[in-house]
Amino acid sequence: MKLPLTIAMTLTGALGLIAAGPIGLPQQQAPALTGGGYLQLAQAADQATMIREGGPLYTRNCVMCHGANGQGGDGPKLAGNDYMKAAGAVISQILVGAVEHGMPPFADALNDREIAAVTAYVMNSFGNSFGGNATPDMVKAQRGPGG
Ligand code: HEC
Repeated sequence: MKLPLTIAMTLTGALGLIAAGPIGLPQQQAPALTGGGYLQLAQAADQATMIREGGPLYTRNCVMCHGANGQGGDGPKLAGNDYMKAAGAVISQILVGAVEHGMPPFADALNDREIAAVTAYVMNSFGNSFGGNATPDMVKAQRGPGG
């Protein structure tokens, strides 16, 4: 009678860890997850991955103009900037840049996943927590045909 209980507890613990791991959910929320909850969890985990991948990309491509803390410089500050509320606008800005105002386009320099990642990063760093769920598919769609 002892063994099944141990297994059950181990399983519950493992599920809690998986649920809590990537996005830091409190463990006690894990057992309450329904089908929709798991879907949300999967999306949130993707978002966490995107944000994590976006950090080094930001350092390589953006930091020199927007600052290590999004405080701005040659480019506007991204911290606390409402422009970061809409993933579509951020993706477009990164793809096209603003050549006449000093921001280069990144459409050729970065692939869909990289642009989604750096978008997720600037939307959710420097004190920003705009969410946004930027995905490679969104970038692909915004590139349009032939882009
Ligand atoms: C060479 C400097 C430079 C680099 C590199 C650069 N930017 Fe910019 N960025 C600017 C400038 C200048 C603007 C303002 C453009 C304008 O006023 O139209 C801007 C605007 C923006 C905006 C819109 C903010 C607003 O309030 O209008 C976002 C978002 C942004 N940049 C993100 C990024 C990201 C992400 C990267 C890296 C992939 C990046 N930028 C790289 C100079 C730069």
